[in-house]
Amino acid sequence: MAKEITLGFILIVVLVVSISQSRLVNGAPQVPCFFIFGDSLADNGNNNNLLSFANANYQPYGIDFPIGPTGRFCNGRTTVDILAQLLGFENPIPSFAATRGQDILKGLNYASGSAGIRAETGFQVGARISLDQQLQNHQVTVSRIASTLGHNQSALQYLNKCLYSVGMGSNDYINNYFLPQFYDTSRIYNHEQYATVLIHQYSRQIASLYKNGARKVALIGLGAIGCTPNAISTFGTEGSACVDNMNSAVQLFNQKLLALVNQLNTNLTDAKFIYVNSFGMASGDPAAAGFKVVNVGCCPVNKFGQCAADQTPCQNRSEYAFWDGFHPTEALNQITARRTYTEFDPSDTYPLDISHLVQLSLSSCM
Ligand SMILES: *[C@@H]1O[C@H](CO)[C@@H](O)[C@H](O)[C@H]1NC(C)=O
Ligand SMILES: *[C@@H]1O[C@H](CO)[C@@H](O)[C@H](O)[C@H]1NC(C)=O
Ligand SMILES: *[C@@H]1O[C@H](CO)[C@@H](O)[C@H](O)[C@H]1NC(C)=O
Repeated sequence: MAKEITLGFILIVVLVVSISQSRLVNGAPQVPCFFIFGDSLADNGNNNNLLSFANANYQPYGIDFPIGPTGRFCNGRTTVDILAQLLGFENPIPSFAATRGQDILKGLNYASGSAGIRAETGFQVGARISLDQQLQNHQVTVSRIASTLGHNQSALQYLNKCLYSVGMGSNDYINNYFLPQFYDTSRIYNHEQYATVLIHQYSRQIASLYKNGARKVALIGLGAIGCTPNAISTFGTEGSACVDNMNSAVQLFNQKLLALVNQLNTNLTDAKFIYVNSFGMASGDPAAAGFKVVNVGCCPVNKFGQCAADQTPCQNRSEYAFWDGFHPTEALNQITARRTYTEFDPSDTYPLDISHLVQLSLSSCM
């Protein structure tokens, strides 16, 4: 009896300790570092000094962000900003473009608006940092961390513990395949073939991230690009809520990405890769999540589908799923981030959500 009580007590203590370790926002973060690769859904200022139309460092972007416009393509925080908070980071992960010194040890955000898996993707919008270049930038970071921590070996051990998020591919459709006036990919490949060549290239890119020490990697699936206000206004047909052709193309990509996650987990047993089902999370009833407007963005847009400078946006941002022609509001990002961190539906993440991924202890090698 006494033994049982003691065991029960210990169990409660262990539970309380582990809950407070995983939940306390003011304690140490659940991973020492978080590295982010992606496009405009994650960009937090890397495009600010690039000659491009894919910039967002002007009003009304950032209207709900504590320091105003930063280059985030959102009224407030992006999904990765909210994920960083859920992981216990005190501040958002800073941009590669603006960060040097000790600050890089907590991770960096390399994401760039209009960039893709393919190097040419987004060229018609201007300069951008393709995934290959983002990975080269990360290589620079790895060397800087190695010289900060002294030996390459300890740098790799450190990098093994970080969380990595990679969300790429939307622009390979929006700013490539579905713009036949600028790109010939849709004449060379059908949807199936295009998804296959993208995944092959992506697979090599992810392998290079692994070589640089990444062991806990979230691969973000593509969202319903056929349901953005810009897709609906550009390609939509009377009476249909979304552009089905675009959605079916990215669903092929997503199926192959899911298969890639299985292969990676089979081949690289000292690492764990997860798939985030952005498409599935977006296909629930937006009205049920409290959104009243789902087919028009909150801010008046320019011809690129981005907020027109200095125009007054809608009043109640939390009623809108979209902020501009392409990008979700912080309100929708909140839902996506929470479901990525702790899955709400079993299909949200595969095979684990981020809260479980970061707790895994993987056999460290290298
Ligand atoms: C660390 O790695 C870099 C690049 O691979 C190499 O040039 C350097 O000599 C290594 N340093 C140590 C201390 O091993
Ligand atoms: C996994 O290993 C198999 C068998 O060696 C190989 O054919 C496949 O390309 C590998 N896949 C990845 C993503 O590493
Ligand atoms: C904004 O929208 C939300 C969700 O519909 C609603 O709960 C809230 O009352 C609205 N606020 C204002 C000031 O209209």
